[in-house]
Amino acid sequence: MFNIIAIDGPSGSGKGTIAKEVARRLNYTYIDTGAMYRCVALKSLELNINEDEEEKIVELLKNMDIRLTNDGKTYMDDIDVSDKIRTMEVTSRVSKISCIVPLRLVMEEKQREMAKKSNIVMEGRDITTVIFPDAKYKFYIDCSLEERAKRRLEQNKEKGIESTYEEVYNSLKQRDYDDMNRPLGALKRTDDQHYIDNSKNTKEESVDEILKIVGEE
Ligand code: DC
Repeated sequence: MFNIIAIDGPSGSGKGTIAKEVARRLNYTYIDTGAMYRCVALKSLELNINEDEEEKIVELLKNMDIRLTNDGKTYMDDIDVSDKIRTMEVTSRVSKISCIVPLRLVMEEKQREMAKKSNIVMEGRDITTVIFPDAKYKFYIDCSLEERAKRRLEQNKEKGIESTYEEVYNSLKQRDYDDMNRPLGALKRTDDQHYIDNSKNTKEESVDEILKIVGEE
């Protein structure tokens, strides 16, 4: 049996960076499940499949090979799509397709399979509640909407993307609503997750908090 560290949290909370660092420090495999959903969104766009052609979208995932590397790269059918899956077009498509229940069921199978091969740190929205509700270590990484918007605006500036605080704030708010109101796999806080508030912490402090809990129990 391999160890599972399950991490959920809202978009822009910093959970990806934290999960990646925890995996690196423990020498576990890092799995970004958002990237897996993004691959399906990308392929559906590439093949001109409409977002309501649910059966076709589920077939895409069934026939797709997704490989995630520990340095955060994403390969879809052996092609590096790490940048392509982060475009605005993919981001807006993925919110919709992640509501397709049969798609989530296939994801569930794929994600559970991944935990049979090595120790993992898996992050997403439903990892602590649906995918691995019995994981020994479950975390919810939170961050205030204001702080997330501030940080996202900075990142956009660094990447040369023009945006206003208001645009970034409203888009994150909408994504929170979508994430928390999905029919299956909605983002939820539960009593058995360790709650980490990344608004107040630096990345290093959040990583240390997780490592302390994992080491102590
Ligand atoms: O974490 P992210 O922004 O890359 O996730 C992309 C999308 O996938 C986002 O709209 C939420 C969705 N998602 C999901 O429904 N379940 C997960 N376990 C991970 C992501």
